[in-house]
Amino acid sequence: MTWDGEEFVREHDAETGASFTIAIHSTRLGPAVGGTRMKPYPSPAEAEADARRLSAAMTLKMAASGMPWGGGKGVIAVPSGLAAEARDGLLRRYGRLVASLGGRYRIGPDVGTSSEDMDIVAETASPYVFGCTEARGGSGPSGPATARGVHAAIRIACEEAFGSAALAGRQVLVQGAGSVGGALIERLLRDGARVSFSDVDAGAARRLRERDVPFVAPEDVIGAPCDVFSPCALGGVLTAESAPRLRCRVIAGGANNQLADESVAEALAARDILYAPDFIANSGGACFGIHMEADGWSRDRALQDVEDRVTASLRAVFSLARERGLTADAAAREIARRRLEHA
Ligand code: PHE
Repeated sequence: MTWDGEEFVREHDAETGASFTIAIHSTRLGPAVGGTRMKPYPSPAEAEADARRLSAAMTLKMAASGMPWGGGKGVIAVPSGLAAEARDGLLRRYGRLVASLGGRYRIGPDVGTSSEDMDIVAETASPYVFGCTEARGGSGPSGPATARGVHAAIRIACEEAFGSAALAGRQVLVQGAGSVGGALIERLLRDGARVSFSDVDAGAARRLRERDVPFVAPEDVIGAPCDVFSPCALGGVLTAESAPRLRCRVIAGGANNQLADESVAEALAARDILYAPDFIANSGGACFGIHMEADGWSRDRALQDVEDRVTASLRAVFSLARERGLTADAAAREIARRRLEHA
């Protein structure tokens, strides 16, 4: 993949053997904002490719949502057996790298990093950190806000596909019951949706099963019949291989980079599957953190805005897609491109 970003920084952490990558994709609309992901990667090249791809998605996310912010992403590739005692030092050193960029990259939590981790990063990278704990004056975990946005995306996608946004009785399969998927499942249950879920983590799976939410084995997710499939785990689930096997009418979820590549959006459309672009459906976490911490909004106002913004953005995307005969993904990219062009 060619990467058309602005700045790419790498650093090796000699003490732990971890590697830091920060990809600043675009600052055209404002400082680059994006989470930092922390996990083991099969190779340094894969960690770097992930940072590039995810940073480009952040640019689309901010632009398509009408937020005056750019896109970036950080990746901390850790050795698989990283000692728990090494974590804080690693995060502080990473924070120094963030600080050295002078605010061009603003960090938030992502897969493998928590609000508590952001508190540690902030020791060396304040004021460029979103999503610290509330005790430290931050907005706290972003998962519930992301889930609120995904929930709005599911409703609007159902409105488009079925003519009604009501979720009572709708069959929704949620892949991943972590911080986003878990909060989403609670909302869907309150709506009276027929929710099922999958998770590779046995603990999460057990907790929900105990509450009688049906479990789908991870290997059976693709192809399980449902109205709405909501990918809320890692990216890359929608591929040339999985697209023909899906048995849903709508896809709307919280994971970043759900499409293996843009051509899969066409394959889904050809099967009459409505795909809500992930970078709109999952924009709630970042928008919430920005509104509370950079704009000084109250929690309630920020959360309400997440719902309103996803609703309005997605309706605009579906309407442009209909008007121009585009996939929703292409329409959303077009809206983002226009905003970036007119910056
Ligand atoms: N992980 C968030 C995302 O992918 C990034 C984020 C969260 C940024 C919270 C700022 C605050 O959109």
